[in-house]
Amino acid sequence: MQYSDKVIEHFQKPHNMGEIKDANAIGKVGNPVCGDLMWIYIKVDKNEKEQEIIKDIGFKTFGCVAAIATSSMVTDLAKGKTLEEASKLTRKEVSKALGNLPPVKEHCSNLAAEGLHKAIENYKDNVPVDFKVKQDIKCKNAECCGGKTND
Ligand code: FES
Repeated sequence: MQYSDKVIEHFQKPHNMGEIKDANAIGKVGNPVCGDLMWIYIKVDKNEKEQEIIKDIGFKTFGCVAAIATSSMVTDLAKGKTLEEASKLTRKEVSKALGNLPPVKEHCSNLAAEGLHKAIENYKDNVPVDFKVKQDIKCKNAECCGGKTND
């Protein structure tokens, strides 16, 4: 698999990795085909113009090289943005910022953008923050665990 230098850089030293203890929303998404899971934690605050911005952001990802690199990149791209700007970030922008992903891994960039959008949606809907990590997505092609869930 030929990854760009940028992908390798973000995979080896991911930015903004881990939970934010004072997060006020979490977006959890999963890829049901490969079983990869991602949590995006956001701390929303207001800027000097009274606009709501992503003051802090973190992620936790159980996934492939591309899933981890795109998680790292989406947090870099979203940090400091208004909620409106951040909710417009697309998977293509995330992939492009990483020097693009190999075609077979393009789908992995869905998770990062979706996770961010989900966190923003949950913030707007006042969904309570739940830090519990629970594997509840069954992988269809898992040879390692036979697709069993791990509660
Ligand atoms: S293989 Fe699952 S997100 Fe990349």
